[in-house]
Amino acid sequence: MRFENWLFPKIKEGQPTKYHWIVQHKDKFRLGKYTVTLEENVQIGSHCSIYSCSTIDDKSGPVTLKKNCRIGTHSVIMPGVTVGENTVIGAFSFVNTDIPADVVAYGVPARVIRKLSVEEKEKFSEGDN
Ligand SMILES: CC(C)(COP(=O)(O)OP(=O)(O)OC[C@H]1O[C@@H](n2cnc3c(N)ncnc32)[C@H](O)[C@@H]1OP(=O)(O)O)[C@@H](O)C(=O)NCCC(=O)NCCS
Repeated sequence: MRFENWLFPKIKEGQPTKYHWIVQHKDKFRLGKYTVTLEENVQIGSHCSIYSCSTIDDKSGPVTLKKNCRIGTHSVIMPGVTVGENTVIGAFSFVNTDIPADVVAYGVPARVIRKLSVEEKEKFSEGDN
């Protein structure tokens, strides 16, 4: 299984974890609970930004990335957004509304482009096995 050897990293404010991602507002970040929720087997490409708090436009709200979803590189997830199970967000997307389960979505702003095929869904769910 893909995440078999995954260990919970030490999270220090503004400093890269051993997986090279950075958490700001550490007090509001919980893996699996509360403000930013990353469910099982979520994958996030490099250079993504996940905001539960966006000071520029004064938005805030919990972000939930559901089981098995994948976020393409350089995407931005805005406050209050939920990305559904197995869904793939294409590279360079600006995700400012909820995206349902089992779809491919991309763009600025991100829009649902198509449903995942049965084969893709099975492949993306492999971490469940
Ligand atoms: C969204 C994605 C999954 C779609 O893959 P796919 O179904 O194989 O789609 P295709 O490559 O066949 O592209 C289909 C069309 O969508 C367009 N497209 C694909 N991804 C796009 C994106 N992120 N943004 C805008 N357009 C995109 C393609 O240019 C193509 O357009 P066309 O029909 O006009 O030629 C993939 O393009 C993607 O973005 N993957 C993320 C990869 C990534 O971030 N990797 C690094 C982390 S591991």
